[in-house]
Amino acid sequence: MYNIVDTPPSKMLEYKKLLVGCPTWHIGELQDDWDAIYEEYKKLDFSNVKAAFFGCGDQVGYSDNFLDAIGLLAKPFIGNGGTLIGRWPTEGYEFEHSLALDGDDFLGLGLDNDNEEELTEERLIIWAELIRDEFES
Ligand SMILES: Cc1cc2nc3c(=O)[nH]c(=O)nc-3n(C[C@H](O)[C@H](O)[C@H](O)COP(=O)(O)O)c2cc1C
Repeated sequence: MYNIVDTPPSKMLEYKKLLVGCPTWHIGELQDDWDAIYEEYKKLDFSNVKAAFFGCGDQVGYSDNFLDAIGLLAKPFIGNGGTLIGRWPTEGYEFEHSLALDGDDFLGLGLDNDNEEELTEERLIIWAELIRDEFES
């Protein structure tokens, strides 16, 4: 497990399977430590990497930018050749806009401890089983 604040982004390329997490902050932005390395991150070649993304957000307080950080990280990953797994249905969430959308799914697991903390553990367990299978396929 690495904290992006003290890890060069290129470290990600040493792995074939990754879990990447980031909360959304500052109204539709990456959390600061991710933001600081975002330009470098966007240049990485993810051709040999399979990754699942997750993020924390607030669908009530930030309904127009819910979980944007997942989209900000997942889209360049796909664009640079990465194989994304772990999409998660939007059903049951209530929000207006999100950069994390891919049709009726989020590009990763969305957690909302500000409004739905009671659902977090169940979501994590289901998603963990899903990505375990997707990582192997
Ligand atoms: C200043 C500020 C801006 C935020 N902006 C967003 C946002 O744009 N989109 C979103 O989904 N959540 C946003 N959030 C909610 C945070 O992502 C959420 O509170 C945090 O992930 C909860 O983490 P915690 O359970 O560790 O406290 C924002 C929170 C704060 C305080």
